[in-house]
Amino acid sequence: MNKVGIFFGPEGGATEKIAKMVQKEFGSDNADLIPIKGKKAEDIDRYINIIFGSSTLNNEIWNSDRRVKPDWDVFRPELDKINYKGKVFALYGLGDHISYARFFVDSMGIIAKRMLDNNAKIVGSCDAKDYKFEQSEAFIEGRFIGLPIDEEFESEKSPERVKRWVSDIKSNFV
Ligand SMILES: Cc1cc2nc3c(=O)[nH]c(=O)nc-3n(C[C@H](O)[C@H](O)[C@H](O)COP(=O)(O)O)c2cc1C
Repeated sequence: MNKVGIFFGPEGGATEKIAKMVQKEFGSDNADLIPIKGKKAEDIDRYINIIFGSSTLNNEIWNSDRRVKPDWDVFRPELDKINYKGKVFALYGLGDHISYARFFVDSMGIIAKRMLDNNAKIVGSCDAKDYKFEQSEAFIEGRFIGLPIDEEFESEKSPERVKRWVSDIKSNFV
């Protein structure tokens, strides 16, 4: 299997914690941890197996031009410049299914939809029956497009969720 690039943001919180958990499952020699902050499409193009990790910091922030933009929001235009040919992608997203039940892990869906518009191959979708939520941009064709993680209210479930998910995507990475 080719080396995995785990691109994540923001740094210093739950998204980074999960990035490290994911890296551990692959073995640190097999996966690089890379903050998405300041990166360009060409940084992504160095890898064939790619994981995108993000947290949702609500719709207002995602859609606002006034606030300091989260790392992924800055990167978003680069999503159209990646060379998707021959690459395999997987996404995970941090969210809070109690306080933001109508926007649960939206950022993961917003990123994924832009990738799908570019014909990206995305693996590692998850059954929604393991989660309680009302609405999500990441709920696409009856499944979550990637792995939702709730470190606020279900952190005890994260290690097992990550383990199962990595074992699934490993079999689809090249
Ligand atoms: C201001 C703010 C807005 C948030 N909005 C959402 C949201 O719309 N949907 C969601 O699922 N989680 C939302 N969350 C929860 C975060 O995604 C969650 O706390 C996550 O673990 C943060 O990860 P981070 O520390 O890596 O940023 C929000 C949290 C904050 C502080």
